[in-house]
Amino acid sequence: MGYKSIEVRKLAGALGAEIFGADLRADIDNETMDDIHQAFLDHQVIVLRGQTGLSPERQKAFARHFGSFNIHPYVKPMEGHPEILEIIKEPEDKLNFGGGWHSDMSFLEEPALGSVLHAVDVPEWGGDTLFASQTAAYEALSDGMKAMLEPLKGVHSAAREYGAKGLSAQSRKSMQSERAADEVPEYDHPVIRTHPETGRKGLYVNPAFTVRIAGMTSRESKPLLNFLFEHSREERFTCRLRWNAGDVAFWDNRCVWHYALNDYPGQRRHMRRVTINGDRPH
Ligand code: SIN
Repeated sequence: MGYKSIEVRKLAGALGAEIFGADLRADIDNETMDDIHQAFLDHQVIVLRGQTGLSPERQKAFARHFGSFNIHPYVKPMEGHPEILEIIKEPEDKLNFGGGWHSDMSFLEEPALGSVLHAVDVPEWGGDTLFASQTAAYEALSDGMKAMLEPLKGVHSAAREYGAKGLSAQSRKSMQSERAADEVPEYDHPVIRTHPETGRKGLYVNPAFTVRIAGMTSRESKPLLNFLFEHSREERFTCRLRWNAGDVAFWDNRCVWHYALNDYPGQRRHMRRVTINGDRPH
């Protein structure tokens, strides 16, 4: 693709690219910002290496180019920055945040457009993040399966993660979450979503937040959802991000799943996330 101001190197076949030549710690000109936006649409997850010392203000200023900020309904934010989540795993913590395949905030009526994650402190080994392209997963389905899925809606809820038994609501030393109320809202989103900017179709269900197919029981939905969950994370649709301290990744929650690996026991990992609001999926 023709980028004027940045260099773009692919990370894997289905999605992911590294971006060089943009410094988020300084003001960014319009041409560079347009290139970054285009690379984000082309590659679905981009990583800007070497942004060491990026301030919360600069991280927010970058994210603000793409939309308004999401305030997480359950997780306590960074002190003085309600728009920033501090994703921290201390050496003594067992659980990590985001340690399962999901798309951020799909349990909202208007789920997140994207997330901007800055690596402040990374373990010496492990702590990578996996991504899976849901447009690639959709495109690989048979015409018969695509036609069957087309009219269906998935029911999304935060109950499994943030309800009484949810993993994300359990206490860690490093991060504090509030438990969701007993009546957690549910929202129906199309199983196949059309990306509002690229027009590409992609699957839009995920194991963390999609609890059933609308109009069916959980038991009836399970075989189909389990098939989609397994299909969507096939290796050929994924890329793997090995973090260096200072890196900034920006992924598109409208067409990408991600998974923070929990494979660094006894080490510390500290990230800062700004989540950008999106629109109602169609
Ligand atoms: C998340 O946003 O789900 C966490 C991602 C990560 O820590 O790699």
